[in-house]
Amino acid sequence: MEKYYHIVTYGCQMNVHESEKIAGILCELGYKNCDDAESADIVVFNTCCIRENAENHAFGNIGMLKKLKSIKKDMIIAVGGCMTQQMGKADNLHGKFPYVDIIFGTHNLSNLKNLILQKQKQKKSVIEILDSEGEIVEGEQPFRTSFPNAWVNITYGCNNFCSYCIVPYVRGRERSRKSENIIAEVKDLIKQGYKEITLLGQNVNSYGNDTNGDLSFPELLEKLAQLDGKFRLRFMTSHPKDFSEELAKVIAKYPKICNCVHLPVQSGSNSVLKAMNRKYTAEQYLARVETLKSFVPDCTITTDIIVGFPGETEKDFEDTVELVKKVNYSSAFTFVYSKRKGTVAEKMENQIDEETSKRRIMHLIEVVNSLTREHSKKYIGKTVEILCEDYDAKKNLYLGRDEYGRMGYFESEKNVIGEFINIKVLQANGVSLIGEIVKD
Ligand code: SAH
Ligand code: SF4
Ligand code: F3S
Repeated sequence: MEKYYHIVTYGCQMNVHESEKIAGILCELGYKNCDDAESADIVVFNTCCIRENAENHAFGNIGMLKKLKSIKKDMIIAVGGCMTQQMGKADNLHGKFPYVDIIFGTHNLSNLKNLILQKQKQKKSVIEILDSEGEIVEGEQPFRTSFPNAWVNITYGCNNFCSYCIVPYVRGRERSRKSENIIAEVKDLIKQGYKEITLLGQNVNSYGNDTNGDLSFPELLEKLAQLDGKFRLRFMTSHPKDFSEELAKVIAKYPKICNCVHLPVQSGSNSVLKAMNRKYTAEQYLARVETLKSFVPDCTITTDIIVGFPGETEKDFEDTVELVKKVNYSSAFTFVYSKRKGTVAEKMENQIDEETSKRRIMHLIEVVNSLTREHSKKYIGKTVEILCEDYDAKKNLYLGRDEYGRMGYFESEKNVIGEFINIKVLQANGVSLIGEIVKD
């Protein structure tokens, strides 16, 4: 009899890729993918805890499975990821949802196969959360679901301890993968026909700073850019404190490396940046942007911003808005500060009230959207190269992104997923472009 799995993923790209690893483990156990929990024999929630609403989402969805589980008693429900890795969370979860069969964390993902086998033998829930990260596991066989794009981890964990952030507590210390393993994985992906490789790490710029490091990040990137074949390279995330001139030069030298850098600023106010423990000032950030632009003039920059950090004054917020306009981001993710248990900022005085934060984020979103629209307008009439990644059946259009990360939609008679297609842009709607194929 066929057995099916369904995975629900929350959080960042790193988690999306980790779900591909979970899918790989489930395929190995003989399960096949399905689109809903109702048809599944095992449902895995890969959770996130970066903000309170990420946790609330997961809690809500796990709660909704109670009824289904009471009918489908043999269905296995597993919950893992960053949320469960928090201190005391597994017990809390088990108490609240006793029908959850398996609870695992971020440090034992590679053991999931054994946990499932163990659960199949026993009635009792299987709970395993490891306190520390252990050695990097190589040789995983992720079941990739985003062809022609592929994600490749280069570092795990984070040492930065930004005062608001939970990641260092749930992902452990920063570890770099050996460059030979990364290069071998990328080579293999290119051989398989993948056309866009995104290197993943909480701070890719500090790649190689630990004992595993034989190359720096710019050196690693250069080696990858020298591989044969037509493909694109992206990376995320770059911490501004470690963004170097050497990296800007490598981006400039190799056309394969996309001229598009995600450089989270978080705030434009020096006192807030200091309280956030970001280790740079607004002036230093702007200087890094200048360096990047001096080597890669057409480089677009995207960012993350938090509003309502404890103690953020109206002037601090205005400084952020001013910086956003100065850098002229092509797009930005904006977040309202969310208090995380166990972080340094949790204990800070002057937590900002919800109303103020809401007002600030609304204003910021307006500013960001108008910048995004201006960037899009410049595209009209131009020809851009899109890597086609999907087909939207509702719109009857193919879609993909250009090197700068803009989504472009177009009509095509044949399936062109996985191909580089030149389109002439006819319309720009906010963040997406609509165009027609340029016949060559
Ligand atoms: N390592 C990356 C991204 C980490 S999480 C980096 O350093 O940039 C992605 C984004 O979530 C962060 O950039 C930050 O803007 C946001 N974030 C992290 N913790 C948060 C919190 N407690 N409240 C609101 N936003 C948060
Ligand atoms: Fe969190 Fe800062 Fe690490 Fe990014 S660099 S994951 S924001 S602690
Ligand atoms: Fe990512 Fe959320 Fe964990 S943003 S690292 S899944 S806390």
